[in-house]
Amino acid sequence: MSADLGFTVGDRRLLTELRRDLHRHPELSWHETRTQERLERVLHDAGITDVRRVARTGLVARVRGRDPGAPVIALRGDIDALPITEATGLEFASTNDGVMHACGHDVHAAWAVGAALLLARSPAAGDVLVVLQPAEEVGEGAREVLASGALDGVRAVFGAHVDRRFAVGEVVAQEGPLAASTDTFSIVLHGEGAHGARPQEARDPVVGAAELILALQTIVSRRLDPSLPGVVTVAAVHAGRAANVIPETAELTGTVRATTAASRALLIGELERMAHAVAGTHRLTADVHITEGTPPIVNPREGAAWAAQAVRDVLGERALVPLGTTNMGGEDFAFYLEKMPGCFLRIGAREPGGEPRAAHTPRFYPAEDALFIGAAVLAQCARAAASPSSG
Ligand code: NI
Repeated sequence: MSADLGFTVGDRRLLTELRRDLHRHPELSWHETRTQERLERVLHDAGITDVRRVARTGLVARVRGRDPGAPVIALRGDIDALPITEATGLEFASTNDGVMHACGHDVHAAWAVGAALLLARSPAAGDVLVVLQPAEEVGEGAREVLASGALDGVRAVFGAHVDRRFAVGEVVAQEGPLAASTDTFSIVLHGEGAHGARPQEARDPVVGAAELILALQTIVSRRLDPSLPGVVTVAAVHAGRAANVIPETAELTGTVRATTAASRALLIGELERMAHAVAGTHRLTADVHITEGTPPIVNPREGAAWAAQAVRDVLGERALVPLGTTNMGGEDFAFYLEKMPGCFLRIGAREPGGEPRAAHTPRFYPAEDALFIGAAVLAQCARAAASPSSG
């Protein structure tokens, strides 16, 4: 493919302006109403008129393929921002106080629109559904898009994230674990309070909590296969109010991260088992409450092969780079991959000489050139997965 990646000068101006406008006007999860209207208008103005509102503040645009019988492919761009005060000093910095596109979803939204422009001009075999998904940051948007039925019958789904660990022009499109599950837990240990001077009259939840915190650290070190990454973090501890009162309860809250369905089940199962067992040794009872977050992203072989082929087609073999260290963050794209094959990619977004600054921080920004690369790669993913020879 040519150096312009298939974009006209007009496309480039449109996508750059769109991205800057979204960046200037970030909206939090489930509040993306201006964003929704803006994206809807841009698609309509570009001649993409089959656009439906889904999942409250989201959109699904259908770009017609060449063959009505060919499989339908979905491309997803998330659109929400974070409660962070921007400190990038960018000319198009946020004008919405305390809200910032600090995860690059402004770029992801522009990717989806850019891919739609390319596919309208040079269609895939089948129709492509371009999904502009709200509420990724709270892990809820993908589930609502799926619940709407908008993606029923789709053969494969592709999405991507900007990543400043990788230079512009580098892309990760590989099989296997890419992002972690994000479950959280609360454990309340119930005992019996007493005077601090008379521990023999208490069933002390504070000592039980202390032992449980340490016991939980053995789940990753002793129970999880050492070749698999995993995290059990106790992030908050609450018990007691006075120096001479043994309290009735102690509460631990935290997060569990895993990169496969099996290791996720193991970590959660062991956490529950240990909470009850350690509580028992201290004559306490444990209430364990798990709040399910996103599943891990494990790219299937077939989806990763389509994505890697798309990267080769657009950028050449040398653009493909390995993920290296597994990302223990979460991403709600995982819900789509539970239902259909596909691939989640990481698109390099570090400008030459730039620092590998992390997302979710006030100075995060993806290099603007990543805009065109991501859009072209996603469009090509749809073409690769829809082609009759890829069956
Ligand atoms: Ni993100």
